[in-house]
Amino acid sequence: MKIREDFLPLSRPSIGEEEINRVVACLKSGWITTGPLCQEFEEKFRRLTGAKYAVSVSSATAGMHLALLALGISAGDEVITPSMTFASTINMITLLGARPVFVDIDYGTLNINAVLIEEKITGRTKALIPVHFAGAPADMDKIGDIARKHDLVVIEDAAHAAGTYYKGVPAGGFGSMAIFSFHPLKNITSGEGGMITHNDDELEKHLRSFRFHGIERDAWKRYGKGGNPDYDINIPGFKYNLPDMQAALGLAQLARLSEFNSRRAELVAIYRERLAGLSGLELPGSPVYAHDHAWHLFIVKVLAMSRERLMEKLSDYNIGYGLHFPACHRLSYVKKRFGSKNGELPETERAAGRILSLPLFPGMEKEDVHYVCEALREIFVS
Ligand SMILES: Cc1ncc(COP(=O)(O)O)c(C=O)c1O
Repeated sequence: MKIREDFLPLSRPSIGEEEINRVVACLKSGWITTGPLCQEFEEKFRRLTGAKYAVSVSSATAGMHLALLALGISAGDEVITPSMTFASTINMITLLGARPVFVDIDYGTLNINAVLIEEKITGRTKALIPVHFAGAPADMDKIGDIARKHDLVVIEDAAHAAGTYYKGVPAGGFGSMAIFSFHPLKNITSGEGGMITHNDDELEKHLRSFRFHGIERDAWKRYGKGGNPDYDINIPGFKYNLPDMQAALGLAQLARLSEFNSRRAELVAIYRERLAGLSGLELPGSPVYAHDHAWHLFIVKVLAMSRERLMEKLSDYNIGYGLHFPACHRLSYVKKRFGSKNGELPETERAAGRILSLPLFPGMEKEDVHYVCEALREIFVS
């Protein structure tokens, strides 16, 4: 086959006229940091999830930090999470002095295996952090039952899950906390950014205050006409607010979420059809329960050659790829600090050595998917 001249990336954000117009309007408005557009973004996102509150933040990592902090997670506590997640979660748990306790995954979906959670619960366990991996929901009924039985908080890592539904319930709509990401690779972007959704009046106060230095009133209210610029701080906080400039982009993207996710599903259907039966490559598994997949990522497992070799070959064809994720319990500092061992999480390790994310983004043409599939056939058959 003829090699394409331009590089096909793993992902590319879809930025149209509406996104540009909204950002430009914000730039011209005289107020570009956190203000009314953030408020509108929070309200629209809150409605998407059905949660009582939505708090915008500068990234999902910041959101996770604030959530753990607001829940009082600290030294000596344990937090249950899959090792197959982005390292930011493990970093935040560790930086608060707590301990990540890893649960194995389902090899097919890469989601936490809920059946294995209970055996990891101890008197020190405070929270469970399932990940809706690649846009496929974790088994929230089972996870909710376990959390209620052991009086644990659930924080959904919904970084991949804007528009994911589990048995008709949206990610973020399970009555617990959820963290979304708007990094440029994600299903919708605000450049960088994130959202915490939750239902707790007390947490709401803490999250908003921790988000901005510990100051309880929003800056745009303090600096508005007749505002009082004075403030007090009861507990020191961080600088994790989302600027309106970015909320403007997020709002335009949120309006297109269904369009984007339908397109992703359409492209995935082509991948599935064209790659079916190609030995040497395993396609992503599907959760057994009813769900709507947000298809943040299309992750295959490489069987018939080393992943490094396949990455080299894909580069020869001008095709990009990603790795989501190196298993966290095998990261150097995690091994050193928490003594995690090889062989501890067999399904995670089996998957971790094989996974590779293929290009998937709404602006991708069907022909681009055909091209990737044809290249893979050539690579594996020759
Ligand atoms: C599963 C998961 N959790 C959390 C994050 C952190 O998101 P952010 O980059 O917005 O901090 C990511 C980002 O890649 C992720 O994939």
